[in-house]
Amino acid sequence: MASQNTIKICEPSDIIKDAETKRKSVFNSTSVLDLVKLDNEEVLIKYLLPRKSMANKDWPTLLSNEVEKLKELQLNQNSNLVRIRGFVKDIHFERRNNNFPGLVVDYFSDGNLQNYIEKHSDLPWKKRYEIALKITEGLRTLHQFGVYHNDLKISNILMKGDVPYISDYGFSVVNDPCRSNGIYSAPLFLSPVQLEELFLGSKNPTPYNEKDDIYSLSFILYYIAYLKKPWAAEIKDTSDASLICSILFKIKDH
Ligand SMILES: Nc1ncnc2c1ncn2[C@@H]1O[C@H](COP(=O)(O)OP(=O)(O)OP(=O)(O)O)[C@@H](O)[C@H]1O
Ligand SMILES: [Mg+2]
Repeated sequence: MASQNTIKICEPSDIIKDAETKRKSVFNSTSVLDLVKLDNEEVLIKYLLPRKSMANKDWPTLLSNEVEKLKELQLNQNSNLVRIRGFVKDIHFERRNNNFPGLVVDYFSDGNLQNYIEKHSDLPWKKRYEIALKITEGLRTLHQFGVYHNDLKISNILMKGDVPYISDYGFSVVNDPCRSNGIYSAPLFLSPVQLEELFLGSKNPTPYNEKDDIYSLSFILYYIAYLKKPWAAEIKDTSDASLICSILFKIKDH
């Protein structure tokens, strides 16, 4: 097995998609995920969503910079962060055909925190405390390395048994930190500062920072404490979110 901090730039020929992984690779996802095998282990490829700001970037240089950063981060082996195995470029499966690199991550067959909580409706407080602490420690590790998650939410906490791991932080490292072209998929987890910026815009945007992640973390802690989300509805698309946002900020202005 590859050592914990090895981050590989994979060739498409390293990746195997057989009948078994094909059958299992059904994800309820807005992004694009592919379950495949790398070095005979099941891993997920997550395709980076192209943003306008990334279109003309020099990928090899960007990737090698980010790989160095991720390697440094993954030297911390007890960090409760989903392991990033590497990147793969120019790979064409049925659902994706572009030149943006895919992120190769460990596959968590136990699913995410929501799947876990739905199965454990009478979760003891000690367990809840341990899970909350591990997620918080994982986030602290990210912040210690100067990485802001940017998309912290329940589906980005993956479970191995009773142990949580923070996922999708690789996108925060790789993506352009300037959010000008970013539509984030989880407006309900965004801090008021970022929500206002995202939907109402600002001439001097406040850069995303650790406080925004802490705000998102508070929703996750609420979920663990109450075993339900702090809101009743699901926001289906950005126009719903935009509407809610304009109502919220109108109220605030009065
Ligand atoms: N490495 C993984 N192993 C197992 N399940 C995963 C893994 N990564 C994501 N998932 C699950 O697959 C589903 C889709 O994940 P995906 O990251 O594409 O979307 P999301 O987390 O809902 O939103 P976002 O695209 O903003 O992260 C979620 O239920 C997520 O928990
Ligand atoms: Mg995710």
